[in-house]
Amino acid sequence: MVNDAQTLENLHTETRSFPPSPEFAEQANARAEMYTQAAADRLGFWREQAEHLHWDTPFTEVLDWSDAPVARWFGDGTLNACDNAVDRHVREGRGDRVAFYFEGEPGDSRTLTYSDMQREVSKAANALESLGVTKGDRVAIYLPQIPEAVVSMLACARIGAIHSVVFGGFSSDSLRQRIDDAQAKLVITADGGNRRGAHLALKPLVDAALAPSEANPTEAESVEHVLTVQRTGQDTEWTEGRDVWWHDVVEPASDEHTPVMVEAEHPLFILYTSGTTGTPKGLFHTTGGYLTGASYTHRVVFDLKPETDVYWCSADVGWITGHSYIVYGPMINGATQVLYEGVPNAPHEGRWWEIIEKYKVSIFYTAPTAIRTFMKWGEAIPNKFDLSSLRLLGSVGEPINPEAWMWYRRVIGGDRCPIVDTWWQTETGSIMISPLPGVTAAKPGSAQVALPGISAAVVDDDANEVGPGRGGYLVLDQPWPSMLRGVWGDRERYEDTYWSRFKGLYFAGDGAKRDADGDIWLMGRVDDVMNVSGHRLSTTEIESALVSHPWVAEAAVVGAKDETTGQAVVAFVVIRDDSEAANLEHHEVAVALREKVKSEIGALAKPRTVLLVSEVPKTRSGKIMRRLLRDVAEHREVGDVSTLANATVMNAIRDNMESGKADDD
Ligand code: WT7
Repeated sequence: MVNDAQTLENLHTETRSFPPSPEFAEQANARAEMYTQAAADRLGFWREQAEHLHWDTPFTEVLDWSDAPVARWFGDGTLNACDNAVDRHVREGRGDRVAFYFEGEPGDSRTLTYSDMQREVSKAANALESLGVTKGDRVAIYLPQIPEAVVSMLACARIGAIHSVVFGGFSSDSLRQRIDDAQAKLVITADGGNRRGAHLALKPLVDAALAPSEANPTEAESVEHVLTVQRTGQDTEWTEGRDVWWHDVVEPASDEHTPVMVEAEHPLFILYTSGTTGTPKGLFHTTGGYLTGASYTHRVVFDLKPETDVYWCSADVGWITGHSYIVYGPMINGATQVLYEGVPNAPHEGRWWEIIEKYKVSIFYTAPTAIRTFMKWGEAIPNKFDLSSLRLLGSVGEPINPEAWMWYRRVIGGDRCPIVDTWWQTETGSIMISPLPGVTAAKPGSAQVALPGISAAVVDDDANEVGPGRGGYLVLDQPWPSMLRGVWGDRERYEDTYWSRFKGLYFAGDGAKRDADGDIWLMGRVDDVMNVSGHRLSTTEIESALVSHPWVAEAAVVGAKDETTGQAVVAFVVIRDDSEAANLEHHEVAVALREKVKSEIGALAKPRTVLLVSEVPKTRSGKIMRRLLRDVAEHREVGDVSTLANATVMNAIRDNMESGKADDD
């Protein structure tokens, strides 16, 4: 388990509590009675939440758990996700409401109302159909954070196609893997995107992904077309017959389209995520339950008042946070949102606060890693902007340390905004554990309580619930509507990964503690998954990328505590004696290895620290002892080495690390 000493310390001493102000409580969407109501009749509670959606055929059955652990929620109902997120608002007279204030990195902006979205999405849906995409087909989306990304996702949903969004920071190899696994028929991309004043290419990466390569001797056979948005105007190669421009097929298409109603359990999307072993898993979510979870949690956790709030979630649509809390949850609730293409420090370090001031953002949702970065840049920067429009702040992605929580509250929230620390996962589809604003007295650093309708427990190795003040594993012990329905094409992997550790309980992979009040504190992953800047990375996946470099004999990767990014990737690498690397400077080797990881997985997985070692510590049965390497990476005393095959190896590794031989990025 990754123990955060500071969090543990605060766990026993944290006495600060921030009860809601009477004014906030008075107007809050959430009510304390929801906990008792949901506990008394859980399925009735979820029925009520699902009834907020527009159903074409109303459901009669709430939950069918007979094929556990694959759930069926609202199974006999039919609906359409895009109809709920877009058309319904137009139909009910809300068409003129702004859906998105888009802010491009170069400073361009666009305002799109719900009526505009309906036209855009209808055109895109007609274009997808003209390209031969129909219900059940998979579409890979590899786009920057521009309105077309949202439009593409909703256009897929509108025709019953299943989207698989691949974050633009992933490499062409990663993209190819995901395209092949889902057998995507269409790829939607852009010529490129904007990053700190430069143009990042995307289409060339798609071309490379689809072409034969060392890793894939054949062309990607499932792909019939590549639909390309012109964003930067970069030159791009063109494959006649396969490639089509967005402006050639979407712009001229009819702006009328009737959404295809689908069964509640029809898959809505696939999203790949790193696990402990092997290749990324294609987690999939279905329509009715997922939309119920995303919209309900968005309404109560963010206290959305759609007529007056301006909501901004800073995540990328390429991650689950963007799916649930930019596209589906907020749009179903009729929110007005900010969508921003760029990074926080271009063209200056106050860019986010400038955007909050410009659009009078009232609800803001971001990640602890961003908050810690802003702390480092200094409070003088946010202080230059008028942030008085803010009334609620959210955090997601990793445990937020109490110090960052307090800074967020004071500097950004002016000591007046409730903070919701939201724990959830790609798998859970929507927020599971969070304070309820207006109800819960918040504690800095704790996600605290399972939402009404959700049942979480902290258990020991034998699945017994732990008492107050004790730690263990976080599990969810009742099915919930937005739970994943499986790993695409691999039911066994789904059952093995999530349901085999504790019989009948969903095992999240996180360690947690209960404090004296029974509140939950998340302690980080207990498996070989790292959390770097809120991005989930697999140690074994990065090790395979390193080992695929011809210089490398062996590699061991750990996540080490990092002040800004939460965890950072630290790689211990054994170089082949007979390789040319033996004659290179350590730094040159490290640079080449980082490039290898970038090309295999993506820049987000590049090791911060590389240390060349002569051996990696292993047990007698050959298992890498990552626990000891983590001690070295975090500059701690090395733990028990008695199970090592060769106990002296750790001394050399530690000495090299402490004498500054590691290469830091
Ligand atoms: C893992 C899931 C869900 C959106 C972003 C990440 C960690 C997430 C919190 C939080 C402590 C958190 C967990 C979880 N995590 N939110 N508020 N407090 N830890 O989604 O990539 O599926 O990663 O992120 O370790 O298992 P993801």
